[in-house]
Amino acid sequence: MADRIYHPNAAVAANSHCSSFKQYQEFYEQSIESPEKFWGQVAKQFHWETPVKEGKFCSYNFDVSKGDVFIEWMEGASTNISFNLLDRNVKNGNGDKVAFYWEGNHPDDYSRLTYRKLLEEVCRFANVLKSKGVAKGDCVAIYMPMILELPIAMLACTRIGATHNIVFAGYSSDSLAERILDSKSKVLITADGVWRGEKLLNLKRICDDALEKAKNNGHQVESCIVVSHLQRLSNTMTKSESREGVSVNGTNGSTNGTQKNNPRSDDFEVAWIEDRDFWWHEEMEDVDSRCYPVWMAAEDPLFILYTSGSTGKPKGVLHTTAGYLIYAATSFKYVFDYHPGDVYWCTADIGWITGHTYVVYGPLANGATSVLFEGTPFYPDNDRYWSIVDKYKVTQFYTAPTVVRSLMKFGDDLPKRHDLTTLKVLGSVGEPINSEAWLWYYNVVGRGKCSIADTFFQTETGGHVITPLPGATPMKPGSATFPFFGVSPELLDEDGTVINGEGEGFLVFSKPWPGMMRTLFGNHERFQSTYFSKFHGYYCTGDGAKRDADGYLWVTGRVDDMLNVSGHLMSTAEVESVLSEHEAVAEAAVVSRPHPVKGQCLYCFITPNQDAPFDRKLQDELKIKVRERIGPFAQPDVIQHAPGLPKTRSGKIMRRILRKIAVGDKNVGDTSTLADEAVVDLLFQLRPQI
Ligand code: PRX
Repeated sequence: MADRIYHPNAAVAANSHCSSFKQYQEFYEQSIESPEKFWGQVAKQFHWETPVKEGKFCSYNFDVSKGDVFIEWMEGASTNISFNLLDRNVKNGNGDKVAFYWEGNHPDDYSRLTYRKLLEEVCRFANVLKSKGVAKGDCVAIYMPMILELPIAMLACTRIGATHNIVFAGYSSDSLAERILDSKSKVLITADGVWRGEKLLNLKRICDDALEKAKNNGHQVESCIVVSHLQRLSNTMTKSESREGVSVNGTNGSTNGTQKNNPRSDDFEVAWIEDRDFWWHEEMEDVDSRCYPVWMAAEDPLFILYTSGSTGKPKGVLHTTAGYLIYAATSFKYVFDYHPGDVYWCTADIGWITGHTYVVYGPLANGATSVLFEGTPFYPDNDRYWSIVDKYKVTQFYTAPTVVRSLMKFGDDLPKRHDLTTLKVLGSVGEPINSEAWLWYYNVVGRGKCSIADTFFQTETGGHVITPLPGATPMKPGSATFPFFGVSPELLDEDGTVINGEGEGFLVFSKPWPGMMRTLFGNHERFQSTYFSKFHGYYCTGDGAKRDADGYLWVTGRVDDMLNVSGHLMSTAEVESVLSEHEAVAEAAVVSRPHPVKGQCLYCFITPNQDAPFDRKLQDELKIKVRERIGPFAQPDVIQHAPGLPKTRSGKIMRRILRKIAVGDKNVGDTSTLADEAVVDLLFQLRPQI
């Protein structure tokens, strides 16, 4: 069944923004042949304070041998993103429309925010930021759970021209400190804590540690603004009404529901540093609910988002204003085929690029109504996602293959218990989706009537670059299919020769689209060497892909030392460097191993120091260390004893052999270049039973 072609359902296609493959091809050709005309037309729906200069819609250089790499879209144009997402929608008569339905960790906690109320809250918080000395060009770090104050904080930054730097609130204090330091963030915004399922996370404590570490490394964050989220929940527990002064609710003006069934957080303590720490609700009390937007040049920074780098040090991917806006808006509209009246839900955390572009910017640019969910798929029960789809009558649902696989484990009964008939489009992102998961998603969740959008993109690409369109593209399970508008993918062989027709190679792009990254913050050199030095004239994704006889693209995964654990991209180098810090470790080598639910997992080889025992205690300590230094999602699955590692005579570790050992495949290929071939057998013998 996996090699069958699945055509879009007639009902989905009939009403679609792009309703046939022929129409997709026409739009696509236009976007490649006349980008100025194509994107100029898109840009018309937005407000530009000053227009783009004649003939200056896009200029770029992708070829390092011809000078510095640069990408510029819409030179001369100025705008403000929050103005386009909020004021424009309110002016267009959507003020009372719900922007976000907020669904808390516990099903009894929910709330909503209209476009008008969102605008007001954003303006107020923008004024709070101004009162803390934040001005155009300053960087603001955000470490928050999935609560309404998160998009409010982001958009408040854009209101006044500050650059946001969101750090996923599952990262450790070390990772947060590193990102605060590199970006020189002036202010940090967080919450006291959050419930994830039955686990209580003390976010403020992590922030306190991170701020201390940043200070010890010479960077002092001036203010830390804290949302009293847990306090609010326990207030609703007793009073069943919204917090005073900081209602983030929409038209109904109250936080519905209670937190009565959540585990208790009464004994939760929040440390406080006077003159540095401020409660969000206190700061919001007396501020003006209007804030004039700061007009930003097209290429002014919008946000920095750190992503793992293969050398270990995270890369501060920088996105800018105009190009990102038009690309987020267009890809959201076409890839999810969003129409007024739809209710869209993307389960990604806003701390990742998927959340930036497809929870916040893309949906709001289209005046869409979305669900923002704080919790996990498994609390209070394993059918939570399906009950949310049912509750809000979700029409577009967007998640990761790892989630699909973990829900699939519980069988067909859970989705079948709920009314999922409103669904039209099912999105997938983060890693290749295996055909088994694709078919379950299609047949069971989508009842064979929904289009699956397997969207390939990266933090760096800003938005979808290879993806089907729901009403237009015949689907093949596991293929991300064809390029989105304005995107020119190529496959190259190791020598940089273009592979035409069927074949497999490095996935690259030959010209920019509006939403792609512009540089790595503070390190243009690294930007050029990471993405443009391998093949001159091309942006190199770091992924491999194949093209089949019908022209379909299949992304096969990373071709560098990166791996994807449950959709979290990380580098083996960053894990190795944490492991090597342990006093008992002489050397560590990390590879990825396929995992039935997570997609990939970490398999670590440890050479202990002489006299240091390799025992359970060491293994546990190493696992904890990785959790603490990077984040719980990075915990290794396997730690194997490796008295020696397979190295070439020049000392390079041959990871391809380690990958074979990790999966127990004795077919390791040529080992003649190894300094000591016997080590391979020894490592097979020491392989733990898994
Ligand atoms: O390897 C590809 C994989 O995720 C990487 C990008 O990770 P990140 O920047 O964290 O962004 C993740 C969310 C967009 C890519 O280099 N990837 C992402 N989506 C897909 C994918 N691999 C195959 N198919 C996809 N649909």
